[in-house]
Amino acid sequence: MKESLHASVRLTLDIVAQVLAGTRAELVTHEVGRVISVGPGVARVRGLAGVQAEELVGLHGGLLGMAYNLDPDEVGVVLLGAGNALVAGSFAHRTGRILDVPVGGALLGRVVGALGNPLDELGPVRTRERRPVERPAPPILHRAPVTRPLQTGLKVIDSLLPIGRGQRELILGDRQTGKTAIALDTILNQRGRNVVCVYCSIGQRTSEVAELLTHLRRHDALGYSIIVTASGDEPPGVQYIAPYAATTIAEYFMEQGRDVLIVYDDLTRHARAYRELSLLMRRPPGREAYPGDIFYVHSRLLERATQLRAERGGGSLTALPIAETQSQNISAYIPTNLISITDGQIVLSPTQFRKGILPAVDVGRSVSRVGGKAQLPCYRAVAGELRLSYTQFEELEVFARFGTRLDEASVATLERGRRVREVLRQQQYRPMPVAEQVAVLMTAGEGLLNAVPVEQVARVEQAIRTAVTRQLPKICQRMESGEPLVDEDRAELLRVIGTVLTVAKKAAP
Ligand SMILES: Nc1ncnc2c1ncn2[C@@H]1O[C@H](COP(=O)(O)OP(=O)(O)OP(=O)(O)O)[C@@H](O)[C@H]1O
Ligand SMILES: [Mg+2]
Repeated sequence: MKESLHASVRLTLDIVAQVLAGTRAELVTHEVGRVISVGPGVARVRGLAGVQAEELVGLHGGLLGMAYNLDPDEVGVVLLGAGNALVAGSFAHRTGRILDVPVGGALLGRVVGALGNPLDELGPVRTRERRPVERPAPPILHRAPVTRPLQTGLKVIDSLLPIGRGQRELILGDRQTGKTAIALDTILNQRGRNVVCVYCSIGQRTSEVAELLTHLRRHDALGYSIIVTASGDEPPGVQYIAPYAATTIAEYFMEQGRDVLIVYDDLTRHARAYRELSLLMRRPPGREAYPGDIFYVHSRLLERATQLRAERGGGSLTALPIAETQSQNISAYIPTNLISITDGQIVLSPTQFRKGILPAVDVGRSVSRVGGKAQLPCYRAVAGELRLSYTQFEELEVFARFGTRLDEASVATLERGRRVREVLRQQQYRPMPVAEQVAVLMTAGEGLLNAVPVEQVARVEQAIRTAVTRQLPKICQRMESGEPLVDEDRAELLRVIGTVLTVAKKAAP
């Protein structure tokens, strides 16, 4: 009896010894402090003496914050989630980590929050790697000039304001002028072109993002896209980090040698979130109450867009930041900052939008500073002349409105200009292939449409597009692949266009 008891005790001890041998006791130390006050989106913490700038701080209930203001005796923490449950007196601890997001191919087709958390119903995001949200921009030595075009599929942009891969082009306009539409059409146009698209929504309503998602899905564009969103209901800290997180996600693909497009919709709301944060942190306000470092906040972000050299994989990150203006005031603080950081701007005009001249691009006030070098050669046959004569036309049109008597040449410029404007119009969600764009613009630019009544231009345009794609597939393909338009190609194009115009004339009542 006694012996069997001894045996069983020995056995138990053996088991305990085995279990202990398999485990390793580890002492994890956390520097712990206490929350002393909680405000909307921010908290003040005392007792985290060793905390570093931008280090993650663990708060009550698994909530994370980011150390932001390091004052001698307390830390201002930006909350990265809803802080409703947070109360003064609760514990806070250092994590020793900085903010990072998951990166990888598994994110394609997904909708994630600013911390990389999935927001769609497709379950967890299965990535292997995480990278910091804030990363330094590629150094100059790793960068190459912008030489390859990024086709938007929009006639007015591809011909007059071409965008190159690795460029940063600002989309600027008042409320409801078609800013998002331009970015969305550009994303749709990347289908089958091997470009990864990241759309970063900042401070929008959830319903707006849901609508965008529907369009991406409907046009078969979700497979190569990623949506990163921080809605207007989220704390300012989350909205503030969203574009940096989206850029980190985009850079992963660029560093693999891929071409990537990123849209920030929009940086005005981003600036507002940052302003709110800074005011809550009691940082001194400057112009328009924005903190003094708002310029740095945006330049640090947009500097990350680039074309990498071939030795670095040759990938590119093209950025289309969007900014909202008030009453077309492009010299307000945030728009001017962004204009000076980017390589050009597409300015949208509410007047044009009201008249239904869409996309409402104000050609005279828009510019693309580096894209010209990247434009496909076939556009050169049409673009230079077109831009100049179009701007002349716009000036003349204002003048003609006063009932001035015009000479014959001016009347011809007006007639041609009206038709050029007509062909620069484009329906939303209908990006147009290169060759069709060139054929249509050539027709208008050469004044061949002058005999066609303005209201019939759209119909003739469609006929030209169909004829050119059907009858000249080889020339179309050569244009698309970046070959210049030789004289014979031009003659062939004009011949096909001529036939269409003759038929159209006969058919006209
Ligand atoms: N080329 C176009 N053809 C037809 N409709 C268009 C075109 N571009 C934009 N729209 C329509 O105009 C409206 C406003 O466009 P959009 O939402 O892109 O503007 P926004 O400037 O981004 O607005 P917000 O300031 O609210 O963000 C939308 O209903 C859109 O469908
Ligand atoms: Mg918008």
